[in-house]
Amino acid sequence: MRIAMNGVTGRMGHRQHLVRSILALREQGGLDLGDGTVLWPEPVLVGRREHALRALADRHGLEHIATDLDAVLADDSIDIYFDAQVTSAREEALKKAISAGKHIYTEKPSATGLDGALELARLAHAAGIKHGVVQDKIFLPGLLKLKRLIDGGFFGRILSVRGEFGYWVFEGDWQEAQRPSWNYRSEDGGGIVVDMFPHWEYVLHELFGRVTAVTAHAATHIPERFDEQGKPYQATADDAAYGIFELDGGAIAQINSSWTVRVNRDELVEFQVDGTEGSAVAGLRNCRAQHRSSTPKPVWNPDLPATEAFREQWQEIPDNQPEGGDFANGFKAQWELFLRHVYADAPYHWDLLAGARGVQLAELGLKSSAEGRRHEVPELTL
Ligand SMILES: NC(=O)c1ccc[n+]([C@@H]2O[C@H](COP(=O)([O-])OP(=O)(O)OC[C@H]3O[C@@H](n4cnc5c(N)ncnc54)[C@H](O)[C@@H]3O)[C@@H](O)[C@H]2O)c1
Repeated sequence: MRIAMNGVTGRMGHRQHLVRSILALREQGGLDLGDGTVLWPEPVLVGRREHALRALADRHGLEHIATDLDAVLADDSIDIYFDAQVTSAREEALKKAISAGKHIYTEKPSATGLDGALELARLAHAAGIKHGVVQDKIFLPGLLKLKRLIDGGFFGRILSVRGEFGYWVFEGDWQEAQRPSWNYRSEDGGGIVVDMFPHWEYVLHELFGRVTAVTAHAATHIPERFDEQGKPYQATADDAAYGIFELDGGAIAQINSSWTVRVNRDELVEFQVDGTEGSAVAGLRNCRAQHRSSTPKPVWNPDLPATEAFREQWQEIPDNQPEGGDFANGFKAQWELFLRHVYADAPYHWDLLAGARGVQLAELGLKSSAEGRRHEVPELTL
């Protein structure tokens, strides 16, 4: 099983997809399909810079690299094309790969605009190939525990979801920025709405209900940053977004996304869910809950100091993994599902149409912000 992996010199492509997913699968002896077949993933590292690819391949004991995407796509021994390039380069590459008949697995956002994202979904459907878009957050331990609470009926009627995502991304002068500079230039596919709203779309959709309307305010709080070479540049993209999402079923989600906030939370992302029967706060790894029966009854009185340790009144949700094992890395978990989909026809719904929903929400979020008004989110079909 040969997989062309494009963009593996980047942050996500290298760490999460190559090392933590594909190489991790090799370390565990391949992927057992359960019917006597064991898949052995053979990555072909694709990119523009031969020396960088060669260095990466050597570092991980891999053989195959390629700098000519067209030649890679013309190679019949390659089954799957994977894309973790910068967002702006993705659409064109995916189109080529679809027309070459490859199965597609791609980072989000699948395209820079809804028209392009929908076209990809339609082309893939017409070509009859299998396709998937990364939706890693739902495979995070914290959100899996939250899902367990939802599925167990813990919350009663879910009223609201409040999400807080973010951390301080350094400007790049005094201390090096910890994210690539293209993220802060809208002309290069950057911006926190384009980056994070696709995630919020599938997190909300999968856990609580489809997003039916969005009201957002995007801001560029830091207008000038410094790039990888230490040169100043105009940060043309939004670095914070304040969004309200109305959900099918009536719950309201409010999510702040920011690269200009300092963390005073237990995790870099946290969602608080309040329901009639109980509430929970889920992060990347942990999830704490408070049942109706153990809810304190504070009384508002600014003249008195708080007497209750509110944060200590929550109960940690256990991992409950078999034999005390860990949750799998979310990216690897999704890769495995995708590979089972391709090679064993297992069901899989995180496809290019689902990816287009994420792009749609980002697009409507930006529109809402620019126009200062609420937008309904029409349901997408092929
Ligand atoms: N799922 C997630 O949680 C998550 C998190 C961060 C980023 N992402 C997505 O992953 C993708 C890559 O992000 P990253 O943070 O790894 O970026 P990065 O800048 O670290 O890596 C980008 C990759 O694309 C290549 N590249 C750069 N410019 C290019 C160009 N003009 N043409 C072709 N290739 C080019 C680079 O060589 C590198 O391999 C983005 O689409 C981003 O939205 C997903």
